[in-house]
Amino acid sequence: MRLKDKVAIITGAANGLGFEASRIFAQEGAKVAMVDYDAKTGEERAAQLKEEGGDVAFFQVNVADRDSVDAMVEEVVKRYSKIDILINNAGITRDGMLTKLSVENFQAVINVNLTGVFHCTQAVVPHMIAQGKGKIISTSSVSGVYGNVGQTNYAATKAGARPPFHRRLAIRRLETRRLPRWSAAALSNPASPCAGASLCRPLSSARARWLPTEPR
Ligand SMILES: NC(=O)c1ccc[n+]([C@@H]2O[C@H](COP(=O)([O-])OP(=O)(O)OC[C@H]3O[C@@H](n4cnc5c(N)ncnc54)[C@H](O)[C@@H]3O)[C@@H](O)[C@H]2O)c1
Repeated sequence: MRLKDKVAIITGAANGLGFEASRIFAQEGAKVAMVDYDAKTGEERAAQLKEEGGDVAFFQVNVADRDSVDAMVEEVVKRYSKIDILINNAGITRDGMLTKLSVENFQAVINVNLTGVFHCTQAVVPHMIAQGKGKIISTSSVSGVYGNVGQTNYAATKAGARPPFHRRLAIRRLETRRLPRWSAAALSNPASPCAGASLCRPLSSARARWLPTEPR
């Protein structure tokens, strides 16, 4: 049981990859907060995992809505006293060729796939810093690397959810721990073996403080 007693929040957990991740995490001993805006399927899937012996709870949340995310994070911390892992997995597509893509369909995908990642990440990070450790994983896509026909909106969000967003967070965190400058530099250098390590590196100092991420 590699994840015994770890507390994980998984968004988009009612279906597809998020549900399968929830199941694997539960089988590995994690307590899983299954987050989705599809309450009917989410409740059914959570009940299914409980029957299989998993320690899971369903939370109806729209990741594009900050109040809904904040309320969920508060409830998870109240219930489990910590958050070890966040998986930003909720995602949608509203495909269309650029010349015909409506502003609404462009914005809808940004709101869920990118702003949703920001909301959930910003909501959990203070707790992880207080704990001195935490791991954040965001589901990107090959579309975020190469683009895809009819997916300017989706590709933009998946490019946004790739390592630079997380690496910047990790660097800020390393800076707050007063680690040698080369540690942060190694993470930001794509040629470095540390590149992409992101928040997967264990963060052990409980004394470190959160500093605002103002540009330098
Ligand atoms: N399936 C693939 O081939 C593939 C490939 C690359 C990347 N991805 C990415 O992986 C992730 C999961 O993909 P999937 O195929 O399992 O998708 P899916 O459609 O099966 O599941 C996505 C889940 O996210 C939920 N969701 C959507 N909007 C939400 C919101 N605003 N708030 C909360 N929950 C919301 C949906 O209700 C659904 O349960 C997505 O981010 C997707 O972009 C998928």
